[in-house]
Amino acid sequence: SLRARLTGFGSYLPKRVVTNAELAERIDTSDEWIRTRTGIAQRHIAGEGETAVSMASAAAQAALAYAGVSAESVDAVIVATATPDQGFPATAVRVQAALGMNRGFAFDMTAACSGFVFALSTAEAFIRSNQAKKVLVIGTEIYSRIVNWEDRTTCVLFGDGAGAVLVEASDDTDAGILSTHLHSDGAHGDLLYVDGPTTEKPVLHMQGRDVFRHAVAKLSAVVDEALTANGLAAEDIAWLVPHQANLRIIEGMAKKLDLPLDRVVVTVDRHANTSAASIPLALDEAVRDGRIKKGDLVLLEALGGGLTWGSALVRL
Ligand code: ACO
Repeated sequence: SLRARLTGFGSYLPKRVVTNAELAERIDTSDEWIRTRTGIAQRHIAGEGETAVSMASAAAQAALAYAGVSAESVDAVIVATATPDQGFPATAVRVQAALGMNRGFAFDMTAACSGFVFALSTAEAFIRSNQAKKVLVIGTEIYSRIVNWEDRTTCVLFGDGAGAVLVEASDDTDAGILSTHLHSDGAHGDLLYVDGPTTEKPVLHMQGRDVFRHAVAKLSAVVDEALTANGLAAEDIAWLVPHQANLRIIEGMAKKLDLPLDRVVVTVDRHANTSAASIPLALDEAVRDGRIKKGDLVLLEALGGGLTWGSALVRL
């Protein structure tokens, strides 16, 4: 049967880096508070000319180059984003145009910080149902344009960036996406939301402590679900590539899986929370620096606004 393999990886980070110390000059916070509560030391913030589309396109180009695949042979572009440049057309069709593609189909998905896992699951479904053979899955976010820069409880947490993977149909049943597991519960919609665009100016609101509480419980359950579905145990996992919201949540998951932190890809210290972009950004970094190798079993997990949460088990 057909498998969906991850064959290309790419990412883009805005040039401008903003340290905790720089934020502490503008709002009532400190490097110490941010580091101890979140593990974040700095974040990249988009400047003029850097958009959700431009970052996504750069990440996609890098993923195609990695795989040695031309843009014309891509059948679908799925972009996960909660911060599109425009209401429509979708970020994905702008990316399609930027890549010089005139065929295939492209659309956006919104599942907040879980967006990449949801988009990866969708790509796998298109491949398994034979609707597409090559799918670009991209997460791109500019939270710097929707956070309230006067609200210290949220603005210190987020960063901008984009990551992409190329997913290809393959007959090699030893590699590829083993399974994906998606969940949402709209009853918790008010814990983390953004107004607008038709109602208000988009601004992010979050009840951090409640989100944190849900994160540990729900991520634990969805990780167990992935392992059980495949008859695998935590010790079979070579790498955990979690959504990067908070180092304490990441450490909690590593502990739950009994994985040492040197088998967990951590970028939150340098990227902060880039929402749907965080997993493909982390994947790209760890594949390119040689930590994640061909044949490795990799576990992805994320939780975000919705609430939405999910996991994916992938053999590279
Ligand atoms: N600098 C200094 N002090 C601050 C700051 C800051 N940046 N932010 C808050 N504080 C203060 C608060 O006002 C509070 O003070 P008080 O006790 O006098 O009221 C105190 O620090 C403690 O605040 P808490 O909110 O209880 O801090 P907590 O330890 O819960 O950490 C945090 C907050 C980091 C937001 C944490 O709750 C968290 O990471 N939650 C999860 C967020 C998350 O994972 N989101 C993921 C999804 S994101 C998405 O989908 C878009």
